[in-house]
Order: sequence, then C-alpha cells, then structure tokens
Amino acid sequence: MFKLKECFLFCQIEKESGLPMLFNDEIRKRFTDKLLAHTKGVEQTARRLAVVYGADEEKAALAALLHDYGKTYPEDDLLHIAQTNNIADEFSLQEPVLLHAPVGAWLLEHEQGIEDCDILNAVRVHTTGAANMTLFSGIIYIADYIEPGRNFPGVDKIRELAFRDLHRALLGAVDLTIRSVLDKQGILHPGSIAFRHWLISVLRKREGQELSL
Ligand SMILES: [Fe+2]
Ligand SMILES: [Fe+2]
Repeated sequence: MFKLKECFLFCQIEKESGLPMLFNDEIRKRFTDKLLAHTKGVEQTARRLAVVYGADEEKAALAALLHDYGKTYPEDDLLHIAQTNNIADEFSLQEPVLLHAPVGAWLLEHEQGIEDCDILNAVRVHTTGAANMTLFSGIIYIADYIEPGRNFPGVDKIRELAFRDLHRALLGAVDLTIRSVLDKQGILHPGSIAFRHWLISVLRKREGQELSL
C-alpha cells in the first residue's frame, strides 16, 4: 500500500498512460474507455480551473484522476463495502449511483493509502455536493460537471460561468442536478439541498438579498 505522505511519488501521474502511478494494472483495466475519457476530461478541466482560482494544479489533477475510482467497482461491491464499513447514509444506499463517491473516497484512503484530506473530501462530495464546500472540492465538483465530454442542455452556460464565478457555476450545476433528480423521481440527497442553501447564502452575502439568478 502506498502512503501519500510517505511517498508522494507514487501518486504522480504516469506520462504514458496519463493515470496516477498508484494504479496497478488491475485497476487500470477496470477503467472502461468511456470512464477513462471522462476522467481525463475532468483532469484537464480541473487543471485549468486550479490555475484560474489559484489552487494547487497538480493536486487538483490527481484528485480529478481519482474522483471516479469508486466507479471501477461493481455496484454490488460498492453496496457491500458501504454496508460492511458503515460508510454511506440511507439515501446513498437507496441510490447506488451516489455510492461511488463516499465508497470511492473510503477505498482510496483504506486500500490505496491516500491520506490527503482535500483529495478525499473532494472525492466524497463530488456527486451530491455539500454545505461549506472548499474551493478545492468546488473545482473537482464543477470540473466533473463541465468536462468536454459532457453534453446536456444548460452545460455550456455553466461551463462559461465556471471560469469566472465558481459559486454561481456550482449553483447552476446543483439546480440542474436537483431538477433532473425530481424529473426522474429519484432520491434527492439532503447533501445537495444543504449545498444549494449554502451557495444561496454565500451569493446573498456577496450580492445582497436581491439575488438575481
Ligand atoms: Fe462520479
Ligand atoms: Fe465523474
């Protein structure tokens, strides 16, 4: 097991594959072409955002490459790991697509030895969002949402906003996410609601109560 604090080198990105060095062949094989293209799109976007917002570009790239680590596991495994280790809440247990984020963060910590809190938190909240989100987690959340492979109505506006107003972009993204969950009659995670409340309060503090959206 590689410990990030002991040997940061193993978390560096391999030039040839573009994947983190800590991924062994077995893990690499579990990345489908689609997941790999998405992951690299998130990395490229997170790097650009990190430069714009003054975050650590290399760490943002690494978090981006790790963010969907949980997706390389079958859903049954994610559910089993979540239940056995008491990782996920009742909402995520009912909506398996949500599980890959908290379980992915747990696996990165316990199986891959990642100890960096910024990376683990960013992975943990990258699907639902969370109140009091850090700049680093916000970069990963929005990079995942707008990477070049994303193509859904409304993404262009959020893509443009992301590079000049991160909080507004995050609000746009969580609003679209909540609408789509409601349309599908899916489970709306309370973390997403708390995330939205927090974003509204941040923007109101910045722009006054008459927030024009
Ligand atoms: Fe994800
Ligand atoms: Fe993703």
